[in-house]
Amino acid sequence: MYSLFSLPLLVILAISPPSCSALSRLSFDLRAGRSARHVDLSTTYEPRGWPPRSIPIEKRSNLNVNPDGSTFLWLPQDEYSGKTFFDRWDFFSDADPTKGHVNYVNRSRAFDQGLVYTQEDGTVIMKGDDTKWLEKGVYRDSVRISSKKQYNTGLFVLDLNRAPWGCATWPAFWTLGTGNWPFNGEIDIIEGVHDNQHNQVAWHTAPGCTLTPATNFTGKIVQHSGQDNLDCNGLINDNSGCGVIEWSRASYGPYFDAQGGGVFAMKWDENGIAVWSFYRATVPKDIVEGTPDPSNWGVPSAVLEPDNCNPLQYFVNHSIIFDITFCGDWAGNSYATSGCPGTCEDRLMDPGNFVNASWSINSLKVYRKQPIKGRITNSAYQFNWCDADPTLVNRPSIRANGKR
Ligand SMILES: *[C@@H]1O[C@H](CO)[C@@H](O)[C@H](O)[C@H]1NC(C)=O
Ligand SMILES: *[C@@H]1O[C@H](CO)[C@@H](O)[C@H](O)[C@H]1NC(C)=O
Ligand SMILES: *[C@@H]1O[C@H](CO)[C@@H](O)[C@H](O)[C@H]1NC(C)=O
Ligand SMILES: *[C@@H]1O[C@H](CO)[C@@H](O)[C@H](O)[C@H]1NC(C)=O
Repeated sequence: MYSLFSLPLLVILAISPPSCSALSRLSFDLRAGRSARHVDLSTTYEPRGWPPRSIPIEKRSNLNVNPDGSTFLWLPQDEYSGKTFFDRWDFFSDADPTKGHVNYVNRSRAFDQGLVYTQEDGTVIMKGDDTKWLEKGVYRDSVRISSKKQYNTGLFVLDLNRAPWGCATWPAFWTLGTGNWPFNGEIDIIEGVHDNQHNQVAWHTAPGCTLTPATNFTGKIVQHSGQDNLDCNGLINDNSGCGVIEWSRASYGPYFDAQGGGVFAMKWDENGIAVWSFYRATVPKDIVEGTPDPSNWGVPSAVLEPDNCNPLQYFVNHSIIFDITFCGDWAGNSYATSGCPGTCEDRLMDPGNFVNASWSINSLKVYRKQPIKGRITNSAYQFNWCDADPTLVNRPSIRANGKR
């Protein structure tokens, strides 16, 4: 399938306006003379001269192909970055459900205390308190934020300079379905504790969803009782869900930071859920350019295949979440065997222990899947954007009921 798009074909883009108003925001790099064409996100293309006309663009856009042969693009949906980063998030200030020794603060307090801010250069910082000495047993201030917007599928691309780590620290970047946990699913994209070096991806679901072993991902399946645990059911095995540990030592902790951070990408569609991580030097060009093409990224770190877990049924209405907690269910329970000094409670007292417990974020970009109907003619591949129903993409229930 993919080879089709490397042929020197002319692509004819046929746009017919009546059903396409939402698509008029699509933009294309139409400048002549450049070799690699892609959807250009930097400018807005306002089609002039309706009625419909054909626009020739060179082929080799960042087209992706579904297993059934149909084609699609990942198009920009939301960007969280810079001064406006925090505008579209809620600050969680209840007790930590994972029993962390943390005091999650509300929005005004988070800004007042300097736990969240945007630097002059646009870098977004979110951190646990690293200024206050605490009495033994007192919880440390930190933040947990959750996107106001909910998603049902998407490509989530997080560009970081640093992710939090350090003894007693337990951060996560994840998505969570509404309602009764774990019935609308949880996808943990970045998670780890202490000075770990390997990121752990995980899924927590309602009963009935399992990882497909021996599929193509580079990570190692997390074990339970000495066996690879394939069962993602969040209600058993101490709520651990099913997980995959990345092979790269630079996917979490000191080495990730030391290399200038990098990019984590989570793709969630009807074909499954996959996570890739790239340390700075290996971030693909299409990500940097804002035209992500997962088909170029190589084997993912972790994959939840659709065969044994319908990704549109087990994962519904997800908010994106960042948090940094301390001790608790994971960092507390594993502390004694982590190689960290003393006890988790003692560790919590000294603010100097939390200088690396911070997120430093360049951007979080969410892309949505845009199906494209195409057909092959003698010398041209024709896309008819308006044959694609953009509403289908964000309504998994329709697909879930109709297809599975
Ligand atoms: C935020 O938290 C602080 C400290 O707990 C509290 O005094 C303040 O009323 C809270 N603000 C809002 C808007 O809830
Ligand atoms: C895994 O990758 C190999 C080589 O790219 C491919 O032949 C095989 O079909 C893949 N298996 C699955 C389950 O996707
Ligand atoms: C998802 O959100 C939509 C819109 O708010 C709502 O109608 C639907 O019931 C939710 N689905 C589930 C499974 O909670
Ligand atoms: C913070 O990171 C620096 C740089 O890697 C390291 O030297 C230092 O020990 C870390 N501090 C803590 C408290 O983890």
